Amino acid sequence: MSQQTLKIVALSGGLQRPSRTLALVEELVDGIAQAVPVQAQTIELGTLVPQFGPVLYRQKLPAEVERALQAIESADLLVAASPVFRGAYSGLFKHLLDFVHQDALVDKLVLLAATGGSDRHALVIDHQLRPLFSFFQSRTLPVGVYATDADFSNYVITSEALRSRIELAVERAVPALRQLVDARAQQAARAPLLALA
Ligand SMILES: Cc1cc2nc3c(=O)[nH]c(=O)nc-3n(C[C@H](O)[C@H](O)[C@H](O)COP(=O)(O)O)c2cc1C
Repeated sequence: MSQQTLKIVALSGGLQRPSRTLALVEELVDGIAQAVPVQAQTIELGTLVPQFGPVLYRQKLPAEVERALQAIESADLLVAASPVFRGAYSGLFKHLLDFVHQDALVDKLVLLAATGGSDRHALVIDHQLRPLFSFFQSRTLPVGVYATDADFSNYVITSEALRSRIELAVERAVPALRQLVDARAQQAARAPLLALA
């Protein structure tokens, strides 16, 4: 992986397959990948739940869940998406993030997304997900994306309005991602000079 390549980790909080939440994060990651060089990895919560549901302490987690947590913690950009359950992100989504070290996401760029059955729960992004990542002192990107069941047909995005919201979120994310790439390039250019000093 070159220094210019950003590591994107998408955490899809969907518990079923197929999943609208998964379709949404895939579209977001695709959009970002068209704008900046990325290496992307998707974590599907539903596949991990049987392994971490009854676990309380990180050191007791199986290796696959530990690897997922390490991927989340080492991402340059985390795309964090959950279905809305009773007006909030799902309890299992929070349970996975409860294993993340409290300082591991400081300053991390996070793109927020959610899916729900109702338009009326769109504020889950700003009232639930954003405060969760504020706890972690992450840098949540200004535009998050909320989609409803009506934006999909057979778990595939069919709504042009949703596509526009995804485009806007990507457009607003790209400057922050480019800054990261530039900062890395400058750091890499300085490194040989520092070695000579
Ligand atoms: C237990 C449960 C609770 C739900 N609660 C809400 C809710 O409060 N508000 C809402 O808009 N949708 C609610 N939904 C609908 C889901 O959020 C919606 O269908 C979502 O897109 C499912 O995502 P998925 O396809 O990734 O599983 C609920 C669904 C379930 C199964």
